[in-house]
Amino acid sequence: MKKLSILFLFLLPLLASCVEKQLKLYIAELKEVVSVFKSNPRKYSVQTTRSWRFVGLEEDGHNINHGFGESRSDILKRAGYGKKVIVGLIDSGVWPESKSFRDEGMGPIPGSWKGICQNGPDFNSSHCNKKIIGARYYIKGFEKYYGPLNMTEDSRSPRDKDGHGTHTASTAVGSRVKNAATLGGFARGTATGGAPLAHLAIYKVCWAIPKQEKADGNTCFEEDMLAAIDDAIGDGVHVLSISIGTREPAPLKEDSIAIGAFHALQNDIVVACSAGNEGPAPSTLSNPSPWVITVGASSVDRAFSAPLVLGNGMEIKGQTVTPYKLDKSYPLVFASDVVASNVPKNVTSQCLANSLSPTKVKGKIVLCMRGSGMRVAKGMEVKRAGGFGFILGNSQANGNDLIVDAHVLPATSVGYNDAMKILNYIRSTKYPMARIGLARTVIHYRPAPVMASFTSRGPNVIHPSILKPDVTAPGVNIMAAWSGATAPSKLYEDKRLVKYNIISGTSMACPHVAAAAALLRAIHPEWSSAAIRSALMTTAWMKNNMGGPIADHSGNAATPFQFGSGHFRPEKAADPGLVYDASYTDHLLYLCSYGVKNVSPKFKCPTVSPSMYNFNYPSVSLPQINGTVTITRTVTNVGASSSVYFFSARPPPGFAVKASPGVLFFNHVGQKKSFSITIKAREDSMSNGRSKGDYGFGWYTWSDGHHDVRSPMAVSSA
Ligand SMILES: *[C@@H]1O[C@H](CO)[C@@H](O)[C@H](O)[C@H]1NC(C)=O
Ligand SMILES: *[C@@H]1O[C@H](CO)[C@@H](O)[C@H](O)[C@H]1NC(C)=O
Ligand SMILES: *[C@@H]1O[C@H](CO)[C@@H](O)[C@H](O)[C@H]1NC(C)=O
Ligand SMILES: *[C@@H]1O[C@H](CO)[C@@H](O)[C@H](O)[C@H]1NC(C)=O
Repeated sequence: MKKLSILFLFLLPLLASCVEKQLKLYIAELKEVVSVFKSNPRKYSVQTTRSWRFVGLEEDGHNINHGFGESRSDILKRAGYGKKVIVGLIDSGVWPESKSFRDEGMGPIPGSWKGICQNGPDFNSSHCNKKIIGARYYIKGFEKYYGPLNMTEDSRSPRDKDGHGTHTASTAVGSRVKNAATLGGFARGTATGGAPLAHLAIYKVCWAIPKQEKADGNTCFEEDMLAAIDDAIGDGVHVLSISIGTREPAPLKEDSIAIGAFHALQNDIVVACSAGNEGPAPSTLSNPSPWVITVGASSVDRAFSAPLVLGNGMEIKGQTVTPYKLDKSYPLVFASDVVASNVPKNVTSQCLANSLSPTKVKGKIVLCMRGSGMRVAKGMEVKRAGGFGFILGNSQANGNDLIVDAHVLPATSVGYNDAMKILNYIRSTKYPMARIGLARTVIHYRPAPVMASFTSRGPNVIHPSILKPDVTAPGVNIMAAWSGATAPSKLYEDKRLVKYNIISGTSMACPHVAAAAALLRAIHPEWSSAAIRSALMTTAWMKNNMGGPIADHSGNAATPFQFGSGHFRPEKAADPGLVYDASYTDHLLYLCSYGVKNVSPKFKCPTVSPSMYNFNYPSVSLPQINGTVTITRTVTNVGASSSVYFFSARPPPGFAVKASPGVLFFNHVGQKKSFSITIKAREDSMSNGRSKGDYGFGWYTWSDGHHDVRSPMAVSSA
């Protein structure tokens, strides 16, 4: 039986099981944690769920996006805020008491709805309302593997004792909640989901792993997920949001999300999935099928600036949402210099459980590096050893990605370069000192978006002819509702409880796109799920709020293997001009070419399957092309009845790209036009630094002067 892991960023840095063991040991010894905190009365901007304003989805918006997104949105109004649309979430359940699931202002439960509110301990139909209209749980696969659920670790019901499901659900369809804030008052303002009047159906399939920290993540079994997806289809959801994935790409036959999503496709349900948190390595994508929207993660224009002042007066800008500070300077040490005697050489800098020497750490600030072990657990270790404060330095692989946490002692996170500066300072002076200021919420932060280092990347090893991910969306430091049964750090010993929490992962990006799909479904009920996917993709944007290309965590220009078609823009997607549509049969034909020929007894594959490269996808992936390749696509006019579109392209380096015809004339809505694109390797294609098999990126666009229908291309030569 294969297990799937829910994509928490929290579990990301945990490498070896030995680390887990150490962690537990340490947790067992920890006697005291901070459980009292003072909220700080700072004044903040009113937008808590910043990500929605960042993508232009705020109706009171004057332009605060600095060139990114839209100045003013009417898509929410046009969509009735998602009224009548039902979004299904396959996740760890829901915390129904959260204000984000109140149903004031909600319309009646749609008459088409067939779902139920399943009873269980801590959950019954009284927890459902016009917001939460369905709630079920699936535990067979879990219990087959682990035995009966330990009821102190999780609830045998749709109740979320983890936080993940509550967070993703409120991101997608949470009601508006004024004066929401995290622990310590960060990001205070109105919290909202992207489709605040859409209904929620929650399918709990992910459960706490027995005898493990919740921060290690949940586990979700294939048979449970498949059962949940099939029920969601039968219940009548319109959109599915699935922030679950595998640690490594799963073959189609073993990928129950892909199989379930294929069933959903037959009912024209839009399925959004997270791309995975296994970056920055290439070929790491989860959920790579063409019939789901695969969502990568990037930052928004909000930061939680926490100044760190070194003894030499140098100020370094860290980030954190830790509600504590150190007003005075304290001695500063590097973890590797203050470890206990028995710590393996390669992890001395990591502040793993029980690795620090209390006699050397007491009263000091410790610089710990990322790499292995959980971020929040490193802070716990410094606290255990008697440290007063803690600086979390990025490893080189993390670059300048600043993932914020609510640590258990005064703390801040710094990028790799800053960590090296701090280390140099420690090495260059006899009595290194530092002081950690209180963080504050900063908006209009630039540049944004920046791709997260953790976001999983292409190329797509499962479906090589499909470029994935499809789009990127906010997934770094996202604030949303939280479970009342878990601390913000999810560490067992952390007894703090919060209503809202800030976490990171492609799990957080996925419900953003699911919400946008819900709005599109409300505006264009006649569109297919492929049309909605196409609209989101062809209108996505590749530039940041400084007008430059979206960069990765190291400052280099990111590629479509990280952001797909770009950052989603719901407002633009409502009016894409043209869509690349694909029917259920088109998908069956794709599967024929893929070699899966027995999907439906009612459908027979043709003797000669069409080329996979001609599947009508809104982006292009051509691995290992020899000389010249011609592919075909068909676009459907969903814009003005009469329009003329012109072709333009920025070919991948070393290739020439031509379309035939180069102009498309439309005279009614719904009209389809086909065209072919010829991609030719230039003679000198190997002379520009790219070696054989390396991908080059470009794009082509159909434009009528008002709509730019853009498709990215990833091409490599044989
Ligand atoms: C449902 O749960 C609520 C709150 O826990 C409780 O007050 C109520 O009695 C329960 N109803 C039923 C029918 O079990
Ligand atoms: C159930 O979980 C609790 C908390 O982790 C643990 O103390 C207890 O031993 C577990 N019970 C069983 C039967 O494993
Ligand atoms: C450290 O080295 C040990 C072997 O000495 C290895 O098992 C472990 O994976 C290494 N840890 C890291 C984080 O590189
Ligand atoms: C390119 O040619 C090589 C060698 O003949 C072949 O193995 C490969 O499949 C070809 N690629 C495509 C996309 O046709």
